[in-house]
Amino acid sequence: LNLIKKKDHLYSIEQVAAYVSDIVTKESGNVLGDNQQSMVINRLKKRMIDLGDLSASEYCDYLNQNFKPELAQLVSLLTTHHTFFFREFCHFEFLLKNLEDIVRRVRERGDKKIKVLSAACSRGQEVYSLAMFFYYHLQEYPDLSFEIIGTDIDPESIKVASNGVYPYNEIKSIPSAYITNNWQRGTGEISRFAKVKTHIKKHCTFSVMNLFKPESILGSQKFDVIFCRNVFIYFEIADVEKIVLNFKKYLYPQGLFITGLSESLKSISVEKTTLAPSIYTFDKQKDETSAHNAIVENVNPKASTPSLVPSPIRLLAVDDSPSVLKLLEKIFSDDPAFDLIGTASNGLEAEVFLRAHKVDAMTLDIHMPEMDGLEYLKKNFKPGHPPVLIVSSASREDTRYAQQTLRHGACDFVEKPALNNLLERADEIKNKLKMSFLNKTIAKSFKKESLFDVDFKIQQPETKARFLVASFSDKEKVIKTCQSMKGDQPPVFIFFEGNSNFLSLINEELSPCFFNEILLQQEFHQKNKIFICDLKEDFQRVYQSFKPSQISLSVFGIASKALSSIILTQSVGQVLLEDLESINKDIKLVANDIFPWTSFEHLATEYLAKAD
Ligand SMILES: C[S@@+](CC[C@H](N)C(=O)[O-])C[C@H]1O[C@@H](n2cnc3c(N)ncnc32)[C@H](O)[C@@H]1O
Repeated sequence: LNLIKKKDHLYSIEQVAAYVSDIVTKESGNVLGDNQQSMVINRLKKRMIDLGDLSASEYCDYLNQNFKPELAQLVSLLTTHHTFFFREFCHFEFLLKNLEDIVRRVRERGDKKIKVLSAACSRGQEVYSLAMFFYYHLQEYPDLSFEIIGTDIDPESIKVASNGVYPYNEIKSIPSAYITNNWQRGTGEISRFAKVKTHIKKHCTFSVMNLFKPESILGSQKFDVIFCRNVFIYFEIADVEKIVLNFKKYLYPQGLFITGLSESLKSISVEKTTLAPSIYTFDKQKDETSAHNAIVENVNPKASTPSLVPSPIRLLAVDDSPSVLKLLEKIFSDDPAFDLIGTASNGLEAEVFLRAHKVDAMTLDIHMPEMDGLEYLKKNFKPGHPPVLIVSSASREDTRYAQQTLRHGACDFVEKPALNNLLERADEIKNKLKMSFLNKTIAKSFKKESLFDVDFKIQQPETKARFLVASFSDKEKVIKTCQSMKGDQPPVFIFFEGNSNFLSLINEELSPCFFNEILLQQEFHQKNKIFICDLKEDFQRVYQSFKPSQISLSVFGIASKALSSIILTQSVGQVLLEDLESINKDIKLVANDIFPWTSFEHLATEYLAKAD
């Protein structure tokens, strides 16, 4: 405190940052070392601007006068709150494997509730994951209920957690067994958010609590399970030891203490039994049965009782996009829990592969040539088929596809919105694959989840437009794309290049497939019409008669120089490129999505349905 208390002294931002780091570490245990100083300085500068563009010295005065509340602000500002639903799947798998034991202990002490503490729970995703988990699995034990207390040092995080409202995109990552009927989506302006329903929320309470001072919040309560994950990595080992020693008294006999996977308690001198990596009990295991999962840390988990999940999971990935397959290979190659034993580029190839190999699970795209994902499921999915996870460019909300695949046996659904963020989906893909072994009943008892009920109907189709640009050799792809359009459609403009003399010929070739005409007239705003056009002659005319944001443009095959220059200079709401590795490099950066052409129709439909 000395630094702050010298009156009228001028301080540099570096001095204040060093001081602030110090008091935050003292208060919360989070070590803010030299390599975090630039982060501390940047966040501090922002705080000083928010307080009225204070200088470093003015901020010192402010901190002095408002020490307690400002320290809380600083702890919130300088600690990491990153979290997500069903983080670290193995902990949930362990709880499920040991649920019977937990239930037995609760009954033996004459209780009716499993009690869980989620300490350092951040914004509550961990608490609600646990609540959905117990709500689902305790259906087998109707005499028992559960209670989860979520705590964190950061009041802002606790406010979010108590509110129970999350961006809808985050909710989508929750495995389908646990999401079903537990969330209410907002309507209108707030449709991007979903709120946890009361039957889940009523089991959860939240409090601000410092791990160093749990007494005033926890009192004399005891718990069957304490989650304290992904917080010790920021602490000195002596502080971890202090906290763990203190938390021992809040556990019932044989209670579980669970840290983050990267936070071993190996080096702390608290007497403990390691039941699985990062899962501990502080009691000696009395007999073999109650410790049936006890293993020594670093021992291969295969040595424990049979896992609910095969190890490794022998996987088949089915997708017609070479880039997606490559990314899936990357996702699974560095994870010993998975063995990607094969790939297939459509449903027919998948059938052949499955006849010749033992497969534990598969990922399946929806839109593929020859046999698409839905056809595959309709034909092949029956009891005994390996779990199928849909990984598709179609939106989870698109009732035309997602719900249908789930109805026909898929265990869950992961959106792959674009190639450049498929890697971010790695955890979700892996979690949902593993979950499919925990919740095998789901496929049998498909329940329609209203949370995802959105119809992708294109409103006022005559004000919008689909542009398809292709060379004549791509004719078949264009025909199939047009044939897959259902319901009232915006006008479709098929632009060919350098073919203006042959447009009538092309039109004749295409006309047996659908009703179309050569672009001659000026009235473009007609629904359910297909116009055959010449890129050079007609593009500007057509383009200018629509709002750019109302146009979806799909490029089949190689884009010519003329088309590339249009795409680079004219704004268009959506640009879709074909997933062909070595071409269209110059325009790849401005494309919204790069996918096989089989995905163009539904990606454009989703875009145009949302464009206003
Ligand atoms: C990275 S998050 C982890 C959230 C969640 N447990 C998980 O594993 O996803 C770490 C949380 O620990 C909280 N935290 C840090 N120091 C704390 C302390 N001394 N007492 C209580 N919570 C603390 C932070 O506010 C933050 O929300």
